[in-house]
Amino acid sequence: MCGIVGYVGSQSALEVVMSGLKRLEYRGYDSAGVAVLADGGLATAKRAGKLVNLEKTLGRRPLPTGNTAIGHTRWATHGGPTDANAHPHLDNAGRVAVVHNGIIENFAALRAELADRGHHLASETDTEVVAHLLAEEFSSCADLAEAMRLVCRRLEGAFTLVAVHADEPDLVVGARRSSPLVVGVGEGESFLASDVAAFIAHTRAAIELGQDQVVELRRDGVTVTGFDGMPAEVRTYHVDWDASAAEKGGYDYFMLKEIAEQPKAVADTLLGRIDATGSLSLDEVRITDSELSEVDKVVIVACGTAFHAGMIAKYAIEHWTRIPCEVELASEFRYRDPILGERSLVIAISQSGETMDTLMAVRHARGQGSKVLAICNTNGSTIPRESDGVLYTHAGPEVAVASTKAFLTQLVACYLVALYLGQVRGTKRADEVQEVIRDLSRMPHEVDRVLETMEPVRELARSLAYQDTVLFLGRHVGYPVALEGALKLKELAYMHAEGFAAGELKHGPIALIEDGLPVVVIVPSPRSPLHDKVVSNIQEIRARGACTIVIAEEGDEAVVPYADRLVRVPATPTLLQPLVATVPLQVFACELATARGNEVDQPRNLAKSVTVE
Ligand code: M6R
Repeated sequence: MCGIVGYVGSQSALEVVMSGLKRLEYRGYDSAGVAVLADGGLATAKRAGKLVNLEKTLGRRPLPTGNTAIGHTRWATHGGPTDANAHPHLDNAGRVAVVHNGIIENFAALRAELADRGHHLASETDTEVVAHLLAEEFSSCADLAEAMRLVCRRLEGAFTLVAVHADEPDLVVGARRSSPLVVGVGEGESFLASDVAAFIAHTRAAIELGQDQVVELRRDGVTVTGFDGMPAEVRTYHVDWDASAAEKGGYDYFMLKEIAEQPKAVADTLLGRIDATGSLSLDEVRITDSELSEVDKVVIVACGTAFHAGMIAKYAIEHWTRIPCEVELASEFRYRDPILGERSLVIAISQSGETMDTLMAVRHARGQGSKVLAICNTNGSTIPRESDGVLYTHAGPEVAVASTKAFLTQLVACYLVALYLGQVRGTKRADEVQEVIRDLSRMPHEVDRVLETMEPVRELARSLAYQDTVLFLGRHVGYPVALEGALKLKELAYMHAEGFAAGELKHGPIALIEDGLPVVVIVPSPRSPLHDKVVSNIQEIRARGACTIVIAEEGDEAVVPYADRLVRVPATPTLLQPLVATVPLQVFACELATARGNEVDQPRNLAKSVTVE
């Protein structure tokens, strides 16, 4: 939520910041703005709407050239998406500019206090109070970093703040509490951003900022201190994503590119995790085998698509390890006072590693003494840093708001964790582990085969562009796949879409079936005991007029008479079917959204990374 960029160096700071904002626009696109330090003053431009509106404004009214700048792309929380609420926000003298991600919970009290002292606040945002408070503190200490530390100590909530002051022309100051901010260290230049994608075209050397830290960014390096002013230890890491990974690479949309990248993403997530003896080796997990063998309960916490990956993981974990596993929406988790102990293993799944609900669930679980293992795609992000261990998915940067390759790689990571637990606890013999690994190793090829046969799915999607509703049905691991198919359609096509457990149909939802209603059914393999039951469900809805869109394994002839449209997927072991069955649903939603004229990569009202609760 909200993308932030800052730069100090010898390049045109505005150009660096604008190109960084382009890479971060997935984080929010309600408005965008920049502030440049030049000629002893501060020049700003900001516009409601997408970054392109700001580009047009800058084309008409260019800002002076300077070497220090900050920028922001907004996902609105306090105040609507207007020019006035767009960041940066300034103090009354126009000497301080601030951009912000997160929520300042005590802003109303601070605002009232500032008003009493004669400040005039021009926007409805929580952010603007910070610009005014910084100006006040700076007027006494003449040190922007110190002013930032003093102000941050007064703020409640989760926030990333980045500020410049006209009196300190070669300095950008950033601060973070429970909200993302990474620093990039170049040759004679420094960067900061919500996500490394904003600066990987310039440098791959990055610094993780810790909780409650302030960073001073200068051309010749960075200084990090705690909110208390104590120097902090700085850890630099190498970003192994390359710049082209964050480009569209000839595709019309990032989502199309990311769907196409899935075979590689799945292969990369498996890479290096199998040792010479064919056993699983998950060194980076950092939770010892003896601790894992003591686990008496697994709880998975996640949101959205990652939650669906967790639902599928439950089937694998319980089947392969016989450990009871619960899956919970991270946003609900801590509020019901969950029963956790030292032998509970909490698995937090998150592509971004910054989802606030999931982060709060992680903190709650650790507070109860449980071990937390993160499954995450973003190196150095907050959730893995605050967890006991991490298994990184290697999907590469996922830019489209709708999660695709992250989902498939989360599934792979979950299967690996489940197998590893089975291996450590002896509930899976070595040959059984190796058999599943062999099956998983075939998956990149199988996903590729699915991708090669997607033209009829695209054509079907176009033919349904004017439908109001699509339902999705599945059983066992097909049920979360149905939920994921519905979520994709909701967020991209803005259609009423719902996923149901097929067995629940007769307990209510079947009343929704009417003539011509498209219903997508994910059919388990004919080797599954549930196969025939789902085929019966297809017959039941078809008898009531549904147009059945059946996703079934190659060679499954039993479904043919009842499928108005048939989408074939390769045969896989039951538990791995989601890796192939989800792909047509992603393609379906992407094409349907395109046919309806929607913004595929930036669906309305959404942001890629949800860093507020
Ligand atoms: O970054 P995370 O995996 O924690 O994000 C969780 C959800 O916000 C995310 O999966 C969301 O549901 C996607 N937009 C779905 O496509």
